[in-house]
Amino acid sequence: MKIFPADFLSSLPMTTFQEILLQNNFSQEDLVNLLLAEGEERLQLFQRAQQVKIQTIGNKVHFRGLVEFSNICSKDCLYCGIRKSNEKVIRYEASEEEILDACQFAWTNRFGSVVLQSGENSSPAFVKRVDRLLRKIKEISDNELGITLSCGEQSLETYRQWRESGAHRYLLRIESSNPDLYRKIHPDDDYHRFERRLQALSDLKTAGYQVGTGVMVGIPFQTPEDLARDLLFFEQMDVAMVGMGPFLEHEDTPVYEFRSLLKTKQERFDLTLKMIAALRLLMPDINIAAATALQAIDPAGREKALTIGANILMPNLTPCKYRKEYQLYENKPCLDEDAELCRNCLETRIELSGCEIGYSEWGDSKHFRKSDRT
Ligand code: 5AD
Ligand code: FES
Repeated sequence: MKIFPADFLSSLPMTTFQEILLQNNFSQEDLVNLLLAEGEERLQLFQRAQQVKIQTIGNKVHFRGLVEFSNICSKDCLYCGIRKSNEKVIRYEASEEEILDACQFAWTNRFGSVVLQSGENSSPAFVKRVDRLLRKIKEISDNELGITLSCGEQSLETYRQWRESGAHRYLLRIESSNPDLYRKIHPDDDYHRFERRLQALSDLKTAGYQVGTGVMVGIPFQTPEDLARDLLFFEQMDVAMVGMGPFLEHEDTPVYEFRSLLKTKQERFDLTLKMIAALRLLMPDINIAAATALQAIDPAGREKALTIGANILMPNLTPCKYRKEYQLYENKPCLDEDAELCRNCLETRIELSGCEIGYSEWGDSKHFRKSDRT
């Protein structure tokens, strides 16, 4: 992994591209320039992002143990492998004991926090079940384990209830901030409206969560201008965390039909790295996740993301027997790796990427701590 020397940029003659890199107020056009950087300029972008990250938040990586506790979903997003209409998927709900065991593992291994993720389900039984889980996780970890939820769009009341019961962060990707593109990759019905997603993000803030959002990179029909606008959307929303991964086609979904429009996987991978680096320049003190989808393209993908700007990693703690039924996209990595193996392999790889692991810390973004909410 490339660790750049501190004087890498200053040793070069100043060009317009370097002026963009060194400023702190980015227009959409500036961001497009960053996303299109090739060759030497691409390396300069990565070097600058690495420098900004280390200067602003240091080189610590925080782990969030990911538990994909149910793939039951009432939504039909046109790109997603576990969409409601995919009848090939065997639906599961992990038992409370299995989920608590995974959280116990996270706590014992000093992960600091967990992410509970599921398909979207708003039934009263589900809301209650999550509520109970939150309380139990707090109980078994002496109130120490941080909890992030990622359970889709819910009512403000539900968000409030879960916040009360112990969740303090919530991930809900906007997927694309361009309403037209959003419409292209979601069914055209009231249940999949862009405006509803925006409302949910605003409700999460109202309920007092640290809000995380994000997009998929390399969706058919997506342009560099769309991606630059996504970055400005994160800034406008003043989010505390962002997760962005390459789009990966899944053959049992409607978007698969447009696969001839896709960039190569390597191009999508590289564009995701540039999005991460550009975002680190735009929002220096937020948490940026090294998404698992990066690893589906390049075995060292997540570590590469950590080197050029990301600072959060989400090791998969989902019980192995459920993993193959939680394939949002094809070639999802670590399908049969148990948590212990995963942890050992991650530690080594993180050290190789020049970062340090922040054990037993929640790893809240400096950005969130700086602002006046909770
Ligand atoms: N390729 C890449 N990412 C995907 N997600 C869902 N389907 C895919 C896919 N085919 C991402 C979405 C969602 C997150 C949990 O997984 O961005 O928010
Ligand atoms: Fe429900 Fe993807 S459509 S989780």
